Amino acid sequence: MIERESHITDPQETETDNSNQFDLALRPKTLSEYVGQNDIKMNLGVGIKAAKKRGEPVEHILLYGPPGLGKTTLANIVAREMGVNIKTTSGPAIEKQGDLASILSNLEENDILFIDEIHRIKTHIEEILYSAMEDYALDIIIGKGPAARSMRIELPKFTLIGATTKAGSLSSPLRDRFGHIYKLDFYNNEEMESIIHRSANLLKMDIEENAVKEIAKCSRRTPRIANRLLKRVRDFAEVEDKKTIEAELTKSSLKTMGVDVVGLDRTDRKILLTIIEKFNGGPVGLNTIAAATAEETETIEDLYEPYLMQIGFLDRTNRGRMVTPNAYAHLKIEYIQNENQKNLFY
Ligand SMILES: Nc1ncnc2c1ncn2[C@@H]1O[C@H](COP(=O)(O)OP(=O)(O)OP(=O)(O)O)[C@@H](O)[C@H]1O
Ligand SMILES: [Mg+2]
Repeated sequence: MIERESHITDPQETETDNSNQFDLALRPKTLSEYVGQNDIKMNLGVGIKAAKKRGEPVEHILLYGPPGLGKTTLANIVAREMGVNIKTTSGPAIEKQGDLASILSNLEENDILFIDEIHRIKTHIEEILYSAMEDYALDIIIGKGPAARSMRIELPKFTLIGATTKAGSLSSPLRDRFGHIYKLDFYNNEEMESIIHRSANLLKMDIEENAVKEIAKCSRRTPRIANRLLKRVRDFAEVEDKKTIEAELTKSSLKTMGVDVVGLDRTDRKILLTIIEKFNGGPVGLNTIAAATAEETETIEDLYEPYLMQIGFLDRTNRGRMVTPNAYAHLKIEYIQNENQKNLFY
């Protein structure tokens, strides 16, 4: 993993920090507690019911979408609704074929194996998954050279749930073996507000309606960020001895944290301003932006870009990234279309 500075609106920073406990407490445990993503819930609900009726595992599930939108949460919910165990690992954590073979052969009938960051699994390990997913069998080669022979080991029937922020990096033989493939979308305002209300309730916090609205606006339509901002605002209230989280205090706390009214943090602004000031608004290649902002290409692509594009501040063209007139308006900078942009937008 690349070491980098973390930010308050960083949807990836989790599990490792001390907010883990807090994350777990707020994590919905059933499909009905899980806010939004209605199509996914509906389809998964049917899949779960049918599988239970047949006494079989649910078909393999692939969940993809930006960080912090609830993929891990959903995987755990499926296990709970099915009443089975879930074993969790991640693509980069599986180093050898033997590691995966041992995880698979230790599963019990109908168990769930959750592989996070499945796009980072090594190719020769991925190949083991093919027969495991399709035939519930492990094909392994024993010995080397002319004496080598292949052996098949039967596995219990299980469900693989894969999660990834990059569905495009998944090989097609792997992707084709999933029965359910779902893209998690950014949440709308109403859903964000309901998630914040739910979290505030669980944390026994007294919060004004307008404070909920402020946090919702700044949360990049991402539940993990909403929960983190809520927690930070609660700290500010605590320091000021306020029993109720008021809208004014929320606004000023968010400002102190460097989060603006549409949820942009310092890095988002740095990315946009760099493209505007150094590259005349673009189009400019991702690697060039990364070099000019001293951010990792991957960080920009996985963490910042999806939201900037979602809110219509950044466009991806075949000639590079371009800042949109909306972003100029938000940053209060006059927009003048440059020559290179002329045939690219509109
Ligand atoms: N639909 C939801 N309703 C309520 N809370 C949610 C929902 N989705 C996510 N959350 C909250 O957001 C937190 C982050 O979600 P989760 O860890 O499942 O994201 P993720 O998609 O797995 O992210 P990553 O790609 O970084 O692994 C959860 O701990 C949970 O509290
Ligand atoms: Mg996760």
